[in-house]
Amino acid sequence: MKILVINGPNINMLGIREPGIYGKQTFADLLELLKQTALEKQIEIEQYQSNHEGCLVDKIQQAYGQVDGIVINPAAYTHTSVAILDALKSVAIPAVEVHISDVDSRESFRQISYAGMACIKAIKGKGIDGYRQAIDYLIEYLG
Ligand code: DQA
Repeated sequence: MKILVINGPNINMLGIREPGIYGKQTFADLLELLKQTALEKQIEIEQYQSNHEGCLVDKIQQAYGQVDGIVINPAAYTHTSVAILDALKSVAIPAVEVHISDVDSRESFRQISYAGMACIKAIKGKGIDGYRQAIDYLIEYLG
């Protein structure tokens, strides 16, 4: 089983950016968590991060026929990008949306998720552990 984990803009700044909201764990900690999860669950996990909307769309398109599931935190593009929504719908790969912070209790503009309209589940406000929970959910879903 292969799962692609996609992170959008500023997720590479974890640990530095607004620690009161996103926590003190760094992007390197997230990469380590993914590595450990892959070992533990005996699956392949590829991680991709970009600050550019078109690159995220390209990566989703390239996943077609290559991966079994997608975990995606589109970050700020969650709330604006119809292109990412359409890309997820185009490839129709089961996808789980992750947000490190609890977007539902923040500004109203963060409560709209375009990408989420193409996802089978959303995990919000669980810190970087949310990625592990999303992977567990996909493993269960994919059987
Ligand atoms: C985020 C929430 C978004 O609103 C924000 O723009 C991010 C990170 C999260 O993981 O909590 O960059 O997706």
